[in-house]
Amino acid sequence: MKEPVIVFDGVTKTYPYYGYITAGLKMFLFNLPEAINHTKKSFTALREISFEVCGGECFGVVGNNGAGKSTLLGLAAGALKPDKGTIEIKGRVSPLLELGAGFHPELTGRENIVLNGVLLGMTRKRVVRKMDEIIGFSELEEFIDQPLRTYSSGMVTRLGFSVIAHLDPEILLVDEVLAVGDINFQKKCMDKIMGFRANGVTMVLVSHSLDQVQRLCDRAMWIDHHEIRAIGEPAAVCQAYQGG
Ligand SMILES: Nc1ncnc2c1ncn2[C@@H]1O[C@H](COP(=O)(O)OP(=O)(O)OP(=O)(O)O)[C@@H](O)[C@H]1O
Ligand SMILES: [Mg+2]
Repeated sequence: MKEPVIVFDGVTKTYPYYGYITAGLKMFLFNLPEAINHTKKSFTALREISFEVCGGECFGVVGNNGAGKSTLLGLAAGALKPDKGTIEIKGRVSPLLELGAGFHPELTGRENIVLNGVLLGMTRKRVVRKMDEIIGFSELEEFIDQPLRTYSSGMVTRLGFSVIAHLDPEILLVDEVLAVGDINFQKKCMDKIMGFRANGVTMVLVSHSLDQVQRLCDRAMWIDHHEIRAIGEPAAVCQAYQGG
């Protein structure tokens, strides 16, 4: 049995409840006493979550919109802190949570590669050394010195994935990013992920494609209404999710 590298133990995550604030300032002021009370309330996005992912394992996470999957990855990435419970991570985490997060619209594609690579933990030297490979993977040579604001959204995500594809991750957290780009690029992304997997990179893969989860993952987990409903063999978990 391989050693666990991600351990969630009794993790609960709440967010503040913004009911009156998001309804606008006027509503907030009109209902001041109640609104102030409301802001103290919280919303539970994940409740008592316990699971382990072993080194080299590909672990799928499925569930409805709003179930808490991205929150789970945010916690694993250390971007969010749990209200209760503990999270242990052994290894360097590369979160692929939002492709192109941290890109700047006025900078060129090339400049954004450097910015994003450094934000994701690569040294500037390594990004520069890998530059041609990253641009080649993105197939955006023609546009690479244009400002990012002139790119289509698909082009931005391609650039985002291309940076990621040249990281050297130990633990990869993937949130719904394999469905980006056109068919050809999706295949390239999938091959890259398969390559990481073959090289023993530990992966947590959030996906709405049950087919993808069954093809790629060693085990899967179904989160429903902020709680774990099933953990185990991907086909069985996906079937439970579809049935439930
Ligand atoms: N920053 C936030 N502040 C308040 N509530 C939030 C915040 N982020 C998420 N939530 C709430 O937490 C719950 C879980 O959200 P999360 O993004 O983890 O869902 P998800 O399973 O990733 O959904 P999807 O499949 O749509 O991506 C949702 O009800 C959402 O409204
Ligand atoms: Mg999500």
